[in-house]
Amino acid sequence: MENTGTIRLGNENFEFPIIVGTEGEKALDTRTLRAKSGCITFDEGYGNTGSCMSDITFIDGENGILRHRGYPIEQLAENSSFLETAMLVIYGELPSEENLRAFRQQVRKNSSIHTGMHSHFDGFPSGAHPMAILSSMLNSLGAYYPEMSSNDREQDLAHFDETAALLISKVRTIAAMTYRMKMGLPFVYPADKRYTGNFLHMMFSEPYNEYVDDHGAGKALDLFLMLHADHEQNCSTSTVRMVASGGANLFASVSAGVCALWGPSHGGANMAVIKMLEEIHAAGDDGSRFIEAAKKGEAKLMGFGHRVYKNYDPRAKILGKSAESILESIGMEDPLLDIARRLEQAALEDDYFISRKLYPNVDFYSGLILKAIGIPVEMFTVMFAIGRMPGWIANWKEIAENPKSRIHRPRQIYTGSTKRDYLALDQR
Ligand code: SDX
Repeated sequence: MENTGTIRLGNENFEFPIIVGTEGEKALDTRTLRAKSGCITFDEGYGNTGSCMSDITFIDGENGILRHRGYPIEQLAENSSFLETAMLVIYGELPSEENLRAFRQQVRKNSSIHTGMHSHFDGFPSGAHPMAILSSMLNSLGAYYPEMSSNDREQDLAHFDETAALLISKVRTIAAMTYRMKMGLPFVYPADKRYTGNFLHMMFSEPYNEYVDDHGAGKALDLFLMLHADHEQNCSTSTVRMVASGGANLFASVSAGVCALWGPSHGGANMAVIKMLEEIHAAGDDGSRFIEAAKKGEAKLMGFGHRVYKNYDPRAKILGKSAESILESIGMEDPLLDIARRLEQAALEDDYFISRKLYPNVDFYSGLILKAIGIPVEMFTVMFAIGRMPGWIANWKEIAENPKSRIHRPRQIYTGSTKRDYLALDQR
């Protein structure tokens, strides 16, 4: 393929360089298009538009491939941990044993939040959505660390390592405290435990009775978080980059990422999948009626479909197996898993889904794991945010470290009224 591409507008040709990524992906570099031709591209939803070059994650949607810094997600799921994968995503290499130990210590050291923030929870009604609490608490966190949230790039970068460990640790604590506040339970202080073990302790221990993980909940949760660590320029990650591009600090950027993740088309889908499975179960439907409704456009098969994957989401495959094993180790029969398996089978055989290349995505099975662990549905998207924190941090770092990075400011095509003169009140 030539290393340039031509766009013909009217009777004029305009030539542009072609950028080729390390995995052979090609992009027409149209950064000079408007200057050369007066024309812009229009790509609502950005399905054909690259917003950046990134070294962090590669997805081949046609072949169901996901790699972080070159490492296949299947190998990481088999051999790595959430914190090790977080370091890989953020710093670009698998850490040495010493660096991983130091990071774990840094995360453990940051497990609690400033007591001044405990009172913030008093300001939320118990019915407040956990994602609303999480986004505001993450932004408020920055107020306690002014040296890390100065919006002076150089200064914020100088504190990057401590900020990254602090956010990865405290997002988990804030999530657990949110659950306790909503349940009317006393906060449980962090203990000297591993990442997910500490989370489950802060969620479920009582002053008189320490939580005991005797069914592999910590391990299943660690895998869940790892599989959510990063995923190219999805809605929430590109939001983080958008906010970071204006020079905003990491706390403000990830807080915006939480808000973007909240919607049912994105991170909110894991909650919507459980709600869908429960409705199907309650209706005594084996899933076939629901599939028919989805094909008529009367329902959406939540947890299915993806803008990039036109093949099976590799994370869904791993999470499906993990859901089965956690339920088995608990000795729990969950009818929702059977319905999910039937929906998957039916959809994979039905032309409506096959022709639209709709396969299970990361959200299809993840909720069943969280439900088996005892995490309430309302907290599911918060769990997604905990898992995605390393990816948001890594993407913020790519923007902040790039001296050539420009503020993100898309163009538009104006379709409103053309020029008209002001009408006095008595003339309207
Ligand atoms: C995540 O971007 C990421 O990487 C996200 C993520 C990450 O890790 O960050 O992977 C996490 O957000 C996963 C997606 C979670 N969302 C859901 O599961 C919600 C259900 N899925 C759909 O809303 C949808 O599939 C999207 C939003 C995921 C993708 O939407 P697109 O790419 O805009 O696709 P589309 O809406 O244009 O759909 C194309 C066709 C349409 O039918 P036609 O108009 O051609 O007749 O497929 C149909 C859609 O109606 N379709 C579905 C469907 N998803 C798409 N029909 C039934 N059920 C579905 N789930």
